[in-house]
Amino acid sequence: MSAAVGIALTGSGAATPARVVTNGELSLWLDTSDAWICSRTGIAARRIAMAEDSLESLSSQAARQALERAGWRPDQVDLILLATSSPDDLFGSAPAVQAALGADNAVAFDLTAACSGFLFALITAAQYIRSGTYRRVLVVGADLLSRWVDWQDRRTCVLFGDGAGAVAMEAAPESWEGLLAMVMRTDGHRRSCLTMAHQATSQVLHDQLQVGSGGFQPIAMDGQEVYKFAVQQVPLVLTQALKQAGLTAEHLDWLLLHQANERILASVAQRLDIPAAKVLSNLKNYGNTSAATIPLMLHEAVAAQWIRPGHLIASSGFGAGLSWGAALLRWGRPEAA
Ligand code: ACO
Repeated sequence: MSAAVGIALTGSGAATPARVVTNGELSLWLDTSDAWICSRTGIAARRIAMAEDSLESLSSQAARQALERAGWRPDQVDLILLATSSPDDLFGSAPAVQAALGADNAVAFDLTAACSGFLFALITAAQYIRSGTYRRVLVVGADLLSRWVDWQDRRTCVLFGDGAGAVAMEAAPESWEGLLAMVMRTDGHRRSCLTMAHQATSQVLHDQLQVGSGGFQPIAMDGQEVYKFAVQQVPLVLTQALKQAGLTAEHLDWLLLHQANERILASVAQRLDIPAAKVLSNLKNYGNTSAATIPLMLHEAVAAQWIRPGHLIASSGFGAGLSWGAALLRWGRPEAA
């Protein structure tokens, strides 16, 4: 292992299924309306995976784009972290991404922390780089929660969409800090607010042996509790992260929150006194894509050149667990800033 090093965020990528489902289309079978969904959430449409789509293929597309934008060769990748709660394979989908990229020197594994997953994975990746263990890491956030919602439950299914996003993170000179501060939190006592729990059934194998079996229940959520949790806790962790870095909200170029609800974004920004023009949002087009929201939004903003090298971004992920966290990020490479 070498001495501590700096961190640079040098590439981004994103991929979503082609099929768009608007609020109007949802109201073909649900007792809901475009007006209700838009006013309560800010969501107008979402991308939904068809049977032929896969989490592994969307993740690989996003990861390949991030790798290319970073200017790496696949054989230079040391680690692939895939944050997801909806893998194609419960043993892990990251190895399929590694194979699709031809990143044969990389170790690849999944990390599960629901909507906080990408932020937790980004922070985890940074530890490997900082310690000198690895130099180049692809961090992917991807979820296909459409597979796991109850499409007859209007309280939940209208909120979610599918997608994948990725970021390339690499070692940089010690003076360059791509991750300036980090906070991670879990409150397992409140885990029942948002679940996608195993549903046990039992299978009798013989008189003395009855084993557990079964599948997973659809997403169950106490929307109001999750809402209260987010608007209370997210400003606190962001404030803590700013304090850690010796900065204030005025220093920020962008606020990049987990895209769960437009009202949550507005409330957090208001509490931190961050102007609406600095709040990144693409909820309208994608809904809540869980672990994918942050890298999907980040990629759009980088591709549109809203986020430029050297920009300071405050990010926060929050969701099931309950889990939440914050990170202060500086985009780009030292020479490009
Ligand atoms: N269409 C029409 N009416 C609806 C719908 C819908 N899709 N969903 C609920 N309603 C009805 C309810 O049945 C209720 O009717 P009632 O008063 O006759 O019983 C009424 O609307 C109000 O329902 P509430 O649940 O009180 O609505 P609320 O204003 O709390 O909004 C929402 C619900 C949007 C889910 C909100 O609570 C929220 O955004 N919570 C945060 C949830 C979230 O972001 N979860 C994900 C974060 S974590 C993660 O990303 C995994």
